[in-house]
Formats: sequence, structure tokens, C-alpha cells
Amino acid sequence: MPDITLDENTAATPDAAHPPEGVSRRGFIVQAALGAAGVCYAGAVAYPVYRYLAAPAQQAAELAAVKEVKIPEDKMPAPGTALMFRFGSRPTMLIHHKDGTMVCLTAVCTHLGCTVQYQPEQDHIHCACHGGTYDAHTGANISGPPPKPLQRFNVERANGEVLITRV
Ligand code: FES
Repeated sequence: MPDITLDENTAATPDAAHPPEGVSRRGFIVQAALGAAGVCYAGAVAYPVYRYLAAPAQQAAELAAVKEVKIPEDKMPAPGTALMFRFGSRPTMLIHHKDGTMVCLTAVCTHLGCTVQYQPEQDHIHCACHGGTYDAHTGANISGPPPKPLQRFNVERANGEVLITRV
């Protein structure tokens, strides 16, 4: 086994009891406290920025992991109403029209991402943020600022439940 010898200069690490030469104990403690506060401040600033930048990629990965959602018979919306649920992390709506047809659309506005609402009286989908409207049968954007249609999902009824899958 080789002998290990410690150099005096590398063996001693500064601490409050043995501050580096030329620095008082009080000065060393103040510098250490300022350093720790700086690290905490940098973390407090960097973490929200990281979360903001990572969120879209994380949501896309979560959404891609979900392949289907099953709605049981007893949760099925009555004709003329809609059921809001989540497909992965994304708000989604299953609209049961009065003629018996069912349409499933994402409930995220294509303008700036607000959650949209089905309005059965007008038979359209409304976004309260900036007044955008969509066709409740196709998801097509019909007025206001939304630049494109709502994303559609496949709807299948079988064995007493509704199966929602990606188009
Ligand atoms: S976010 Fe929906 S219209 Fe602007």
C-alpha cells in the first residue's frame, strides 16, 4: 500500500475556526453567508426559468404517452351537453349532440391556449378570453382570433363505453 503524505497547503480546508490567512473569522463567516445567499438566489431565479422552458416538452411527452381514454356509460353526457375530461394533461370535451352524434375535441383554444366551453344554446364552442368561436360539430374556427381548428379525436361506442383515441 503506498504511503500517502499530505501537503500542509492542501490538507487544510478553511472553515470558521481556521480561516485563510489575512481573513478574519468574522470576514470569513460573512463571505460564506454571502456565497450561500448568492447560490440560493441563483437557484430561485434559474428554477422557474427552467420549469417555463421545460413545460412544453414535458406536456408533449405526457400527451404522447396517452393513447386512449375510456368513458364509462354512466359518465356519458346527456344529449345536448358536453363532458369535460383530460386526455393526458390536456383538457378535452366530448360533445353529445341532440341528434345523437358524438364529437370529441381538445378544449384548448388555438389562439393563446385558454380552455374553451361548449355552448349548447348557440351550438358552438366559445373561448371567453378573446371571443373566439368554433363549430361544435367539426371543431373548425368560425370567428374571432383563433387561427386554426380544434384538434379532433376518434369516438367509438362499444360495450357500454365510449373509446376516445387520436385521429
Ligand atoms: S385564447 Fe381563445 S380567443 Fe384568444
